[in-house]
Amino acid sequence: MIDEPARLETYQDEIYVAGLQGKVPGLPTDLNDLEAIARDRLSPHAFAYICGGAGAGDTVRENRDAFRRWRIVPRMLTDVSAPSYATTVLGTPMPAPIMLAPVGVLGLAHPDGEIAVARVAAELGVPMVLSTAATSTIEDVGAANNQGRRWYQLYWPKDPGVAESFLDRARASGFSTLVVTLDTRMLAWRPRDLDGGYLPFLRGVGVQVYLSDPVFRRGLAQAVEADPTGAITRYTQIFGNPALTWDDLEFVRDNWSGPIVLKGILSADDARRAVDAGMDGVIVSNHGGRQVDGAIGALDALPSVADAIGDQAAVLFDSGIRNGSDVLKALALGAKAVLIGRPYTYGLGLAGADGVRHVLRTLRADFELTMRLSGHARLDGLGRDALIRV
Ligand code: FNR
Repeated sequence: MIDEPARLETYQDEIYVAGLQGKVPGLPTDLNDLEAIARDRLSPHAFAYICGGAGAGDTVRENRDAFRRWRIVPRMLTDVSAPSYATTVLGTPMPAPIMLAPVGVLGLAHPDGEIAVARVAAELGVPMVLSTAATSTIEDVGAANNQGRRWYQLYWPKDPGVAESFLDRARASGFSTLVVTLDTRMLAWRPRDLDGGYLPFLRGVGVQVYLSDPVFRRGLAQAVEADPTGAITRYTQIFGNPALTWDDLEFVRDNWSGPIVLKGILSADDARRAVDAGMDGVIVSNHGGRQVDGAIGALDALPSVADAIGDQAAVLFDSGIRNGSDVLKALALGAKAVLIGRPYTYGLGLAGADGVRHVLRTLRADFELTMRLSGHARLDGLGRDALIRV
């Protein structure tokens, strides 16, 4: 699949042909509808953790509203008979500019967790980003993703030896690009989880990258197996690092030879500082509205970041992508590719690997059709003039 990235997604045809035999898709083809189904079918704790935003959910809503303020202006009589939306970002080829965002604790959504996601990502040629808060080890996910394209997301622990060990393990398991998430210095006030008194990590879920780490294990007074509570306590002590500053980026530069991307950038000034610090890219993101309630909608932050550094570094985008038109809008405003979080997590929770496959094929087909119907046969040339702000 990876070698034939230009082939168009055929999901629409497949669905209609299957319909002739009375078959309909098991999950909705408007990905906005996944949330309501997940609310009914996932455990209350799992649904709260996945769906929840910070505070009153204002920024979760704003992420979606920001897309509605931009409208596509379709153009006619352009030849869209042989489109190609394949692209390469920081050396990573992809059939369409859509990637899987790092989502922690996927085992909470479905027992097959990250392993199912890694397999489907490889099958479809979609790059994945593995979270440090995974419920599987770096090595197992690397093996499951096999020939696929994978990036590793670092939650930077206070213990530099452990951080270095995570990076070594990721490199050894074939992860090509490092994503450093900056917006999670600590966990935000998340009422859905607080109301249920539920944090997966304290129950030993989503700490598997730590518990399997040789440097972390060496630092424990007793083996993880003999004293799991002690191991989790140690984890809580070193998980976040609120003392980090721009100068600390030298550490990742020294310890990672591939491209490095900073995730959680919302200001043009920070984007410029990222470039000054030798970073290769940024992800404009507010963590899906899960960290600072009241923060700017991520799409509203994108144009100024793209203007500031778009010619010097790769600008990527996430937070609020649900439909093909959202992908088009983010690309037109300067993103080289977008990432999705909750949609594939709900897909996983509702139908395991099949659900992840459905979500990825749906978004890509919807995106490609929207591009063609709007008059764009290529990503090149798609710019702000494809949109108006209303
Ligand atoms: C996340 N996100 C996230 N980001 C990250 O860098 N590391 C992580 O471990 C996680 N974990 C995580 C768990 C869950 C349940 C969600 C929903 C999100 C944020 C994620 O990478 C991405 O920024 C958002 O999910 C994008 O917004 P949408 O697509 O969910 O609207």
